[in-house]
Formats: sequence, C-alpha cells, structure tokens
Amino acid sequence: MKNQYIIIVAGGKGSRMKSDIPKQFIEINGEPIMIKTIKKFLFYFSEIKIIVVVHKDYFNLLETLIQNAKINSQNIEITRGGDTRFDSVKNGLKLIKDNEAIVGIHDAARPFVSVNTIKSCYETAAKKGNAIPCLSIHESLRQVIENKNQIANRDAFKIIQTPQCFLVSKIKKAFNQAYQPVFTDDASVLETTGEKINLVEGNVENIKITSPFDLVIAKAILENEQ
Ligand code: CTP
Ligand code: MG
Repeated sequence: MKNQYIIIVAGGKGSRMKSDIPKQFIEINGEPIMIKTIKKFLFYFSEIKIIVVVHKDYFNLLETLIQNAKINSQNIEITRGGDTRFDSVKNGLKLIKDNEAIVGIHDAARPFVSVNTIKSCYETAAKKGNAIPCLSIHESLRQVIENKNQIANRDAFKIIQTPQCFLVSKIKKAFNQAYQPVFTDDASVLETTGEKINLVEGNVENIKITSPFDLVIAKAILENEQ
C-alpha cells in the first residue's frame, strides 16, 4: 500500500463570496467549512497525511480551529499559500518527499466530497498514476462563437471536481513548469507533460462553495447528510 497524502488548498481570499473572512472559514450550522473538509479525509482514512495550505494571516486561526475541533492533528501540517492556487499547490507539494506516494489535491471549499469519491480517486490513482472526479452534465449547452451561438453536445463534456489524485513524482515534475492561465485545476497541469487523465465518478453534493447562494445550498446538503 502506497502512502497517502492530501493537500487541502485554503489559501484563497474568496472574493466572489464577499464575506469578511475567506469563505473556507465561514461556519455552516456552527462548524467552519475548513474543518468539515479536513474531517472528510480523516473519515476516509484516519492515518492520511494532511497538508493544509493557508495565507500566513490565517495560520493562527486555522491552528485554533483544529485544536477546538478535537480531531487528531498528529498528521496535519500547515504551510503558506501563494498568490495563485497553482502557487499554493506547489508550496504543499514541496513538503512531500515520498515520490511513490499518492497525493490528493482538494479545494478547502468542497466540504461535501463523499468518502466514496475520495476512495475511487485514490484507488484509481494507485493503479493508473492519476484520477480525477467528474460528473455528467444534465443541462443543455450552447457554445458561443464570436457573436453567434450553437448547440453543443453535452455528452462530450464533463464537470470536474476535486480531490484530484496523482503519483507524487509525476505531479511534482508537472508543477516545475511556469504557471499558465489555462491551469484551472491540477489535472490540466499534469496533462501538459503528456499524461493521460483518468476520470472517476464524483458526487453531486461535492460543490465548490463560491458565491453567497452556495451557502444556501450548503445548508440543505448538510441537513440531508445528517
Ligand atoms: N486557493 C489557494 N490559494 C490561492 C487561491 C485559491 O489555496 N491563491 C484555494 C481556495 O482557498 C479554494 C480553492 O483554491 O479552496 C479553489 O479556489 P476558489 O474557489 O477560486 O477560491 P478563492 O480563490 O478563494 O475564491 P475567489 O476566486 O472567489 O476569490
Ligand atoms: Mg479563485
């Protein structure tokens, strides 16, 4: 069995949420989003090695929240975030020395990832070198080209979530390149090195809490989870 790491990226400002504190620290039914996310990974595997990436101004707050949450913090390390998500991931990867391990990279703002999704990602990545969770699209899609638009085949597209899991040696090598604006996730960084990306099924509740409306949905998901 390979060692398992999870990098939880929580270094963003949450500007679209327009709240006083970064969105990952907002409480839903009395518990910060951040803590819910950490708990999910401990629930999947109590000995997983957790690296949380946060802006230096929130180091102390995060430490306090972890202490108050009464979770096993023995395997939790905290490191500094960067200006972009890419930089934050890169800082997290620097702490991992075991090139044969599997590392997941997960948005702190996705507290509703299921244990099943996490399990599929790590298992497939252990077999095939990488795995990322996805969902099919139920809406109709149109593609905008200049000032016209045309029907698009929705079966040709997938919605991509996190955790995205990788063999450490391969994702570290991929993150040695310079940042490009097309890198909206970690699989897109790996793909530029010529690796084929493996899709596994995600879960519908695994939303990325982004705008105030997502907090309304988050409360409903939480009630359904309990
Ligand atoms: N993130 C990070 N470091 C950054 C930017 C983002 O670790 N410099 C993290 C966020 O904290 C979040 C995840 O990456 O958990 C996904 O990013 P996003 O949802 O875009 O969060 P923010 O960048 O914080 O939000 P916004 O884009 O609205 O400012
Ligand atoms: Mg952002």
